[in-house]
Amino acid sequence: MPKNRTFTMIKPDGIEKGYIGVILNKIITTGFNIVSMKLTKFSKIEAEAFYAVHKERPFFGELIQFMTRGPILAAILEKDNAVDDFRKLIGATNPAEAAEGTIRKLYASSVGENAVHGSDSDENASIECAFHFSAREMY
Ligand code: RTP
Ligand code: MG
Repeated sequence: MPKNRTFTMIKPDGIEKGYIGVILNKIITTGFNIVSMKLTKFSKIEAEAFYAVHKERPFFGELIQFMTRGPILAAILEKDNAVDDFRKLIGATNPAEAAEGTIRKLYASSVGENAVHGSDSDENASIECAFHFSAREMY
């Protein structure tokens, strides 16, 4: 498998609880290389654009409120099979359904406040990386 890239965020709940270090350690020890990384914060308009695919869902308002309430840690990760392997590492959207040892099982508290984001396809990974990082930040 060739190396490819995925996009992740440690969400506001993960930052508030002081989980940046343990989550990054888990990501690195699982074999992901950090290509780019920044602590940043979504404006309401930016969060609505990032999550536009969910705009008709009943939880959209709650999701935007949550994702804009504090900083996020955005990162581009590289590994063979990066998108699928990272989704496995983070676990199911709802931490109650996430497998043992996954990041959401360990550090998330609810289906809404679930500590981390992971891209769901190579195409969305490229779009999400470009949303948060300029060309000169993605080397
Ligand atoms: P993500 O995009 O953050 O990696 O999460 P995901 O693929 O596992 O889940 P997705 O269906 O894309 O949902 C995006 C985020 O919306 C929030 N959510 N809340 N209250 C709810 O029922 C609900 N469902 C989804 C979560 O923060 C979820 O990660
Ligand atoms: Mg998703």
